Amino acid sequence: MARVTTVSLKERKQAGEKITVLTAYDYPTAKLMEEAGVDVLLVGDSLGMALHGHYDTLGVTMDMMIYHTRMVARAAERALVVGDMPFLSYQVTPEDAVRNAGRFIAEAGARAVKLEGPADKFERAIQAILRAGIPVMGHIGLTPQSVHQIGGYKVQGRTPDARDRLKNEARGLQEIGCFALVLECIPSDLAAEITESLSIPTIGIGAGPSCDGQVLVVHDLLGMGKQPKFAKVYSNVGAAMKQAFTEYVHDVKSGAFPGAEHHVE
Ligand code: KIV
Repeated sequence: MARVTTVSLKERKQAGEKITVLTAYDYPTAKLMEEAGVDVLLVGDSLGMALHGHYDTLGVTMDMMIYHTRMVARAAERALVVGDMPFLSYQVTPEDAVRNAGRFIAEAGARAVKLEGPADKFERAIQAILRAGIPVMGHIGLTPQSVHQIGGYKVQGRTPDARDRLKNEARGLQEIGCFALVLECIPSDLAAEITESLSIPTIGIGAGPSCDGQVLVVHDLLGMGKQPKFAKVYSNVGAAMKQAFTEYVHDVKSGAFPGAEHHVE
């Protein structure tokens, strides 16, 4: 079983083979994803919202990310584990950026990191991380760590200026050395243009079918929490869990559980 690497992902783009990415935050879920053949397990800072119940991703810390990445990395034999750099882990100084990216690799077992924003803003941080030998995945379009600046979780790249800016950002991140690029919540024709123009793979989320791969937040795919419009619920695990909890409450209250077969003597 060949491991997925940052190099093999680029080869997949050349071969026209789609890349599958899911967010993963814990060992049992990551293990099931691994068994299902998911290529990339992204320990996204979306865990702040999906798992910890925060309003946004801004309160997520490096320690939280390391804690969850360790669990995911233990389950990953074939899949590439990517650690998502949280707010303020790379924005302040390049030294912070390389130290924090290094923690994902050395302490948690990730094999690449992702960060949000264009190369012209974070040039020195990205270069410092790459110089340390750590592969970087870019992320443009809707970048949740800038939610207050962009005025909410909105589709990006609707105006001609915004389209040009995103195309330049995509090119800039490829030129600086990113191995792949997440395109979040941008019109699908723009994502198609960007995908066509790059030699590195694009991974779309709410960016249409032309991207080289797709990523979803696992809780959105499983019907847990409030799904964005672009997500698809593959299995309503949320509803099944609620049903199980409701039946348990009923059975304990009524005395139906534990039954004779659940006793120990
Ligand atoms: O944090 C995250 O999970 C992400 C993906 C949605 C791309 O950045």
